[in-house]
Amino acid sequence: MRGTLQSIWPPDPSSLVSADFLPLTLKGRYQKLLLRNHESQFLFKSYGVGDGPAKAAEIAAADILQILDRERSVPVAEFTWEELSGTIQPYLADAHVISLSNICDDDSLLVKVLCRQVADWTLSNHDAHINHVLWEGRRPFFVDYGQAYKFFPHDVLSTDYYPNVSRQLEPVYNALHRSRSLTAHQKAAVLSAAARMSSTFHDPVWELLRPFAVEKFDRIQDQEVFLVEVRKRVRDTEATFEAFLKERG
Ligand SMILES: Nc1ncnc2c1ncn2[C@@H]1O[C@H](COP(=O)(O)OP(=O)(O)OP(=O)(O)O)[C@@H](O)[C@H]1O
Ligand SMILES: [Mg+2]
Repeated sequence: MRGTLQSIWPPDPSSLVSADFLPLTLKGRYQKLLLRNHESQFLFKSYGVGDGPAKAAEIAAADILQILDRERSVPVAEFTWEELSGTIQPYLADAHVISLSNICDDDSLLVKVLCRQVADWTLSNHDAHINHVLWEGRRPFFVDYGQAYKFFPHDVLSTDYYPNVSRQLEPVYNALHRSRSLTAHQKAAVLSAAARMSSTFHDPVWELLRPFAVEKFDRIQDQEVFLVEVRKRVRDTEATFEAFLKERG
């Protein structure tokens, strides 16, 4: 995200024009447009009627990830383009997908990915498949949090948990864990990320979820129950990962 980090975020809508190409690989459920100004390119995702919770999830998760794990995250903002309602994010023009075996074969890349599972667990994101991990050199960026909290609070931390089985690839963490036992140093890195979570995901951060709660649940009581459940998940993160890694052996 070299150029983008130096440019103004979010971009001034009046500076943007629609770019004249979109790579064919950018398929997926939502219509996408590439927008650009004189210094950067941006990905606009259009959300239709009924997609309010997914749009709010993507924005809330991105806001929270700017605090929990900024180095591996892409900022996302609400955006309207020519009467289309959606989101905008920096377009990682130089990023590419790498294979699971490339990740497995390099301890430092593997640790970067495994540690991200901690943030994904607190955001209840089970859509971190291989095409959602974009690499700029040795730096991963995890994209597409439109499914954050989709399966919450009934989801489980397990290498077999795959709620998208009928329409999406498996979460990258599942295959990585199944392919190996972690070394002591890899386990320590994951546990240290888990131990930091409850102090990083503190109350003001947790409040960033409120707009999503309001979008997803009509009743104030249900919104509050959701927020309390998230707080509980965050508080239990370290113990949950300790038990998960112990079971992995
Ligand atoms: N910021 C970005 N920069 C570059 N490429 C991106 C970016 N965000 C997403 N992509 C690429 O575009 C693909 C589709 O994007 P995304 O997953 O956000 O869309 P989607 O419509 O939600 O797709 P799906 O329904 O398949 O999950 C991603 O798999 C990734 O390869
Ligand atoms: Mg996607």
